[in-house]
Amino acid sequence: MYRTHTCGELRSSDAGREVTLAGWVQRIRKMGSLSFIDLRDRYGITQLVADEKESAKVNELVSKLGREYVIQATGIVAERQSKNSKIPTGEIEIKLSAVKILNSAVTPPFTIEDNTDGGEDLRAQYRYLDLRRNPLRRALELRHRMAHEVRNYLSDIGFLEIETPFLIKSTPEGARDFVVPSRMNPGEFYALPQSPQTFKQLLMVAGYDRYFQIVRCFRDEDLRADRQPEFTQIDCEMSFVEREDILVTFEGLVKNLFKNVLGIEYDKPFPRISYRDAMEYYGSDKPDIRFGMKMHTVTEMVKGHGFGVFDDAGYVGAIAVPGCACYSRKQLDELTEWVKRPQIGAKGLVYIKYGEDGIKSTIDKFFTAEELEGLAAAVGAVKGDLILMLSGAKKKMQVALGALRLEMGARLGLRDNSKYAPLWVYDFPLLEWDDETARFYAMHHPFTAPKPEDLDKFYSNRKEDLEQVNANAYDFVLNGTEVGGGSIRIHDSNVQERMFEVLGFTKEDAEYRFGFIINAFKYGAPPHGGIAFGFDRFCALFGGQETIRDYIAFPKNNTGRDVMLDAPSRIDASQMEELCIASTVKEDK
Ligand code: AMO
Repeated sequence: MYRTHTCGELRSSDAGREVTLAGWVQRIRKMGSLSFIDLRDRYGITQLVADEKESAKVNELVSKLGREYVIQATGIVAERQSKNSKIPTGEIEIKLSAVKILNSAVTPPFTIEDNTDGGEDLRAQYRYLDLRRNPLRRALELRHRMAHEVRNYLSDIGFLEIETPFLIKSTPEGARDFVVPSRMNPGEFYALPQSPQTFKQLLMVAGYDRYFQIVRCFRDEDLRADRQPEFTQIDCEMSFVEREDILVTFEGLVKNLFKNVLGIEYDKPFPRISYRDAMEYYGSDKPDIRFGMKMHTVTEMVKGHGFGVFDDAGYVGAIAVPGCACYSRKQLDELTEWVKRPQIGAKGLVYIKYGEDGIKSTIDKFFTAEELEGLAAAVGAVKGDLILMLSGAKKKMQVALGALRLEMGARLGLRDNSKYAPLWVYDFPLLEWDDETARFYAMHHPFTAPKPEDLDKFYSNRKEDLEQVNANAYDFVLNGTEVGGGSIRIHDSNVQERMFEVLGFTKEDAEYRFGFIINAFKYGAPPHGGIAFGFDRFCALFGGQETIRDYIAFPKNNTGRDVMLDAPSRIDASQMEELCIASTVKEDK
């Protein structure tokens, strides 16, 4: 037996027992005749102590130890003279009677402590060493607890976990596919699933009316803090349901996670907002509602005062920033530069300081003090607030003002990661027009049903009508992050065929790519719908972090590389030949 206890287990009530522990040497300190060793495993750290006066043999072995050596240590649990209240085992130490070196270790390239000296790249290269550190261990433990809770909760209400294949035919979810050449079918390729979307729908046709899967998905898209090329979804589908059934079922799942993982009782229904209201009041389809500072449209109110910028604008919007009327000229100039950055794209910033001692603004020339007070009242400002206004093309400026709102929220410390503000967003547009390719794209995916009341417009051939069609789709948003997305699906093969037509597929093309699902719908497809949660994002948010990387054991970096494996990499010429593929990249590149 390698160990009787873990390194996180022993307390003063164990004093006097003989125990054996196994783990990694975190640190060694020598004080006179005594050597103190911090022994670490997944469960914690226990202090070992060797006394040179008591055992020369033990002492000799201890003198050979280095950082990260793997050892087995036997001794008697004793109460410590100076206790360490910071760790659960801080009341005791083990008086060593025997030590065995199980394996030596070369000096690690960075310190394996909570605050390490290792840079990001170095830690990624030695991920297995980074994973020994507490922050990452805690992140993976949280991930495990979340997965366990999800499985229990969904299984208890009748969901079956069913695996679906990874080597498939492309399913369009808006990103590029990763493809895999087929040796046995020369010149042909599998695609890795961007999600199991079509399979879960086929499972509904097959009668498995409550399906879920914690499943890997693959998308070749540009990476960000909350995006990985391979990521995990909690993928779900149900039959004989309407939107309400889905929202209620999965609100239950999320509340259960809040309760059992975070200890938060959330007994009210989650707030809901339509996509259009979300854009109007938050300038985003994933509003962060941990704080107010809602946007107000004042386009009509400010027109006709001779201020050309407002008079010519398709949209003028404002937010009231609490307590910031005291902002200095320098701070306002800096904010103006901030909104002018290309990512935000505003031409300038209009402000009104609604101070205790009166009202001051960049537009004093065009508005009387009463008019400005009226404007302040209309945007819900109170004395002491700073009103910020952007104007220009509607959609672009709504998004810009939404970004400014988030920035001000962050600067004022209102985006508190220990708070949780869930939200459903519903009624997204079904289609998005793309000027470059001059065609419509499905905003969610091509299997999402149009709202029944919009079917007339769905069958119209006018672009303006099609733009108006709402989808029976919904997103689950937590703290301004889109965590989940889903929809009620099309289950009628004619409607599905029309959808492919609207998306610009010829009949033959639709048949070639999606014939299997159009066909399946002819054999009695039940009404169905579902949702998928981004599991990595969910975990990161529950851990109070923005980046998902730490919640994935072996993630890719932001150029999609695994720097530990050094992947992707070239393959042998013989392997390429066998797969009937050739590279257009020159060898010496
Ligand atoms: P969607 O494309 O909205 O829906 O994806 C669902 C959720 O998956 C997460 N997500 C990601 N997480 C990390 N890295 C990525 N690259 C990434 N891409 C997406 C997001 C998102 O909300 N088949 C549909 C679901 C359905 O209709 O039921 C789908 O995949 O949190």
